[in-house]
Amino acid sequence: MIKVGLLGAGRIGKVHARSIAADRRSQLVAVSDIDAQAARELASTHGARPLSSQEIMADPGIDAVLIATSTDTHAALIEAAVRAGKAVLCEKPVDLNLERALACQAVVAKVGRPVMIGFNRRFDPNFAALKRAFDAGEIGKGELLSITSFDPAPPPVGYVKLSGGLFRDMAIHDFDMACWIFGAAPASVTAIGSSIVDPAIGAAGDLDTAVITLHFADGRMAVVKNSRRAVYGYDQRIELLGSDGLLSAGNVLEHTVTRITTAGAQAAKPEYFFLERYMKAYAAEWSAFVDAVQSGSDYPVTLQDGVHALAVADAATLSWQEGRTVKLIGGRPA
Ligand SMILES: NC(=O)c1ccc[n+]([C@@H]2O[C@H](COP(=O)([O-])OP(=O)(O)OC[C@H]3O[C@@H](n4cnc5c(N)ncnc54)[C@H](O)[C@@H]3O)[C@@H](O)[C@H]2O)c1
Repeated sequence: MIKVGLLGAGRIGKVHARSIAADRRSQLVAVSDIDAQAARELASTHGARPLSSQEIMADPGIDAVLIATSTDTHAALIEAAVRAGKAVLCEKPVDLNLERALACQAVVAKVGRPVMIGFNRRFDPNFAALKRAFDAGEIGKGELLSITSFDPAPPPVGYVKLSGGLFRDMAIHDFDMACWIFGAAPASVTAIGSSIVDPAIGAAGDLDTAVITLHFADGRMAVVKNSRRAVYGYDQRIELLGSDGLLSAGNVLEHTVTRITTAGAQAAKPEYFFLERYMKAYAAEWSAFVDAVQSGSDYPVTLQDGVHALAVADAATLSWQEGRTVKLIGGRPA
């Protein structure tokens, strides 16, 4: 049984607490949050103890730490957790600053303990099936990947200001999916975007609508389309064109009933947002982490993957700001 300390009892922390509790091989034993009330409530829901993050790190009875705190705390908590000898799963992104993420990676490498990053979409059953089919050679050589990722509604501007921007906060998932599916990091990134959904997002220095093109060294391409508003729900689709065919993974709908009348055909909307669409993915992500901890095998998502996706996000930000294609050289935007 893996004894787990959860850091962060917010939106995603609560989701992870459920996954930990639902897996027979893990037990949530402690919850920490700087909001003591939030820590107490989540801990009591799962029969765990509210502790400080320092107490969790220092407790030899705690084997693993799941970091689901605010982004600006991730790098320091990863470093503390590996130094304390814990198995670590940390939410994305590693940090909002690439140099800080690289420094964290250096500390982790020195300690010599791996860290898994929470790119949950890899564990979505539909996207995982697409990746398996691609890896099995079902469409030959991959050539053009298209990722659609639209949120149902824009976040409050207060969130936008602290988020690191659409590329580092939202598109980073799509960048990871592109790198994962193609098994490589892009050689260059071109991004265009605007704030046509909510001008207040533009006034805050961010964008809400973007198209990003990733160009890989061997000529393969990926196009990521992002919007902060799709009025019909969370639109999450992938299409991959290969030399021998096409793979596509569509939305998960609220239900499977379709109605066809003389007026036409109607199906249900996509599930509303990530807390609906990706619940299976979060559970599968946790299960994959436990598999790796128990078997001693490599984590399916690494800290290096988290750093790569952040470098792509930085390149996209620079491309959008400067109106040019940005190369990635030595893992850094140039
Ligand atoms: N993979 C995904 O699908 C996904 C979805 C949502 C959020 N996230 C990521 O998860 C992280 C948390 O996001 P959220 O939406 O749950 O935010 P949130 O604000 O709801 O929760 C964060 C919690 O962390 C607590 N916290 C902050 N600093 C702390 C510290 N030093 N020690 C202990 N607790 C601390 C806060 O009090 C808060 O309760 C972010 O990095 C975000 O990018 C990932």
